[in-house]
Amino acid sequence: SSNQMWGGRFASGPDAIMEEINASIGFDKKLYGQDIRGSIAHATMLAHQGIISAEDKDKIVHGLNTILSEIESGQFEFSRRLEDIHMNIEARLATLIGPAAGRLHTARSRNDQVALDFRLWVKEELQRTEKALTGLIAAFLDRAEEHAETVMPGFTHLQTAQPVTFGHHCMAYVEMIGRDRSRVRHAIEHMDESPIGAAALAGTGFPIDRHMTASALGFAGPTRNSIDTVSDRDFALEFLSIAAIAATHLSRLAEEIVIWSTPQFGFIRLSDAFSTGSSIMPQKKNPDAAELVRAKTGRINGSLIALLTVMKGLPLAYSKDMQEDKEQVFDAAESLELAVAAMTGMVRDMTIRADRMKAAAGSGYSTATDLADWLVREAGLPFRDAHHVTGRAVALAEQKTCDLADLTLEDLQSIHPQITAKVFDVLTVEASVASRTSFGGTAPNEVRKQIAWWRARN
Ligand code: ARG
Repeated sequence: SSNQMWGGRFASGPDAIMEEINASIGFDKKLYGQDIRGSIAHATMLAHQGIISAEDKDKIVHGLNTILSEIESGQFEFSRRLEDIHMNIEARLATLIGPAAGRLHTARSRNDQVALDFRLWVKEELQRTEKALTGLIAAFLDRAEEHAETVMPGFTHLQTAQPVTFGHHCMAYVEMIGRDRSRVRHAIEHMDESPIGAAALAGTGFPIDRHMTASALGFAGPTRNSIDTVSDRDFALEFLSIAAIAATHLSRLAEEIVIWSTPQFGFIRLSDAFSTGSSIMPQKKNPDAAELVRAKTGRINGSLIALLTVMKGLPLAYSKDMQEDKEQVFDAAESLELAVAAMTGMVRDMTIRADRMKAAAGSGYSTATDLADWLVREAGLPFRDAHHVTGRAVALAEQKTCDLADLTLEDLQSIHPQITAKVFDVLTVEASVASRTSFGGTAPNEVRKQIAWWRARN
């Protein structure tokens, strides 16, 4: 048999393969809540404008609410023959309320309907993301405060560079995740326009009020161009690009957690709650959650590229290609939610091994820059000369297999006669960290100022 929604001109039903490739109900059933809310707003507006009767509107709204509870209690039977969530709901409405159901689709198309449903879903997902990111920032702020004075090696090229504090390192992630959150907020503003009423692509001749539906659905206003409205999936692309950038940040944290928890680094101990054992090696405690977060990034990036590629070169306005938008967004959203939750848990639960961090911070000649700076300040050397002198001190320490601070005054004076015993004050990791008082620097007081700045905004 042919389709009851659009089958008027069709003599026979679809091939089985056609039905299979065409159906989206398997994944777009997720949009049932948005679809029903959208339909209630649309029907209410139609009645307000005198396009349908108040009685029909009441029947429609009542029927839609019945369907909502049927779906939520698991009683609703989804049918692939009815393609998608929109037609599944409308068909059920017809069974429940009879001919009045057929009036709901006046001045509407599935093209503006799906644009509305999906936009509402993405907007809500962005609101959930904003909350989740706020929780991760809060976790980092707590750890940063706790470890504002905990010295660790800072790295460039993954080689020991200069001592920093663990609190400062945590605050680097706060900045990254704070940018993600502000991208989320901007995206919510960007997409805050209602598609419903664009109809198939050209608008409609019925005297609808798009401002009314827009405000009923919590949008700032209606979209301005009906052709763009049904072709636009920027909101989905923006969500995916924000997710990809956020996941990229999380992957860097995941990688650091993996490295830090190795016996070789030993900077942190993972909580039992976020690690797993090995079925053969009894000693193992593996950072699986961090590894999976690192891997989810690949999956989210894949979704972004997939949808960009679907949209690339599509002529205006709606094409069925766009049905492929939803699985990518749903999958990326689920992955990102999991990744943020896992990271929030790991950040809160991990044990910081301050002794190991401090020992590592002091090795690898991490205070060489402090020696060079001292020569500039106290002996008046140009920085380039001070750099050279310090390089020779490092070479001597390397030759004697000791740290810079372990060289004797004689050793140092053999390299440059103006060096005095006072130099040892700047060669400790604590002194090095305390001296970095420039705005945004690693000195504990500076880091505490940044924590306070973020606390006021979290
Ligand atoms: N299931 C479709 C989608 O997700 C709904 C819109 C269908 N519109 C149409 N003209 N066939 O894109």
